[in-house]
Amino acid sequence: MEEKLNKIKSDLIKELDGASKEADVLNVKSNYVGKKSEIQEILASLKDMSVEDKRKYGSLINNTKKELEELINKKLEELENKVNVTFDDTLNYDVNVGSLHPVTVVAKEVTDILKRMGFTVVSGPEMESEYYNFEALNIPKDHPARDMQDTYYLDNGMLLRTQTSDNQIHAMENYGAPLRICAPGRTFRNEDLDANHENTFFQIEGMVIDKGVSIENLMYVMQCVLSEVFKSDIKVRLRPGFFPFTEPSYEMDISCVICGGKGCPTCKNAGWIELIGCGMVHPNVLRAGGIDPDIYTGFAFGIGLTRLAMMKYKINDIRYLNSGDIRYLKQFNI
Ligand code: DAH
Repeated sequence: MEEKLNKIKSDLIKELDGASKEADVLNVKSNYVGKKSEIQEILASLKDMSVEDKRKYGSLINNTKKELEELINKKLEELENKVNVTFDDTLNYDVNVGSLHPVTVVAKEVTDILKRMGFTVVSGPEMESEYYNFEALNIPKDHPARDMQDTYYLDNGMLLRTQTSDNQIHAMENYGAPLRICAPGRTFRNEDLDANHENTFFQIEGMVIDKGVSIENLMYVMQCVLSEVFKSDIKVRLRPGFFPFTEPSYEMDISCVICGGKGCPTCKNAGWIELIGCGMVHPNVLRAGGIDPDIYTGFAFGIGLTRLAMMKYKINDIRYLNSGDIRYLKQFNI
């Protein structure tokens, strides 16, 4: 009898192994534990057995039947949990994967460096009001600085921001002091196009406001950013600048990597490329942001990300970067 029961069990296991669909398992179920199955016959034969055999085999037969049912139910559960995903591999997939744009790469590098120094990344609108782009930044109407940034004015009375410095005001309004933010973004100027000028380019703005913030802090941050981005010796010069929203103001130029500083169309024969504007935040700007300049000081900077990408990857014409020409962009393979 034991042999017979073991045989039924091992036959069932084999059949379940071969079953891959629910319908197959249900078929097996009816054959092995259904009304006309062998185990049911054996169970029925119990009543004709001697008392001794009944005692000997009764529980064995019942337990075997239970085991058979358990095996079947387990298999049914397994099939239920199995999700069948089939791929249509007759489709022609385009295996031509893209690459990151050089400006995207440097933007990420700079924000990563600044984040490690405790800066929070924020963003602001590309369509901006005159107030945030100019007035609150200490550039009133008729101020000559407005002419330096040829502005696209829109029919709805707004403008396309000419600089990411508008984020300074938004950030002060939103978070107050102390503050440590950076804001990468796209900016627009109605420029004549040449190798070094485009009407659409990227900048990253930075602003730190706290008690006792100084020019040394600003220079340290700029040095960290540039040395980490270039990871090699580069020549940078610091010169006095003029921005209405900072006092004092500085400009940082990088020795042109295209010509090694000798002069070329990219640097307009100057040997240097303007990369960063920065300085100590003007008290009027702090006030516009609702911060008391008698308590807090701050520094701010704006880095030209498009130019940074050009210098890092030795791209001699800014227009390539905006062309969207995959063949050009792909060669950087970054
Ligand atoms: N917004 C300036 C520009 O686009 C650059 C700049 C200068 C940003 C000085 C600053 C700053 O934050 O302090 O030319």
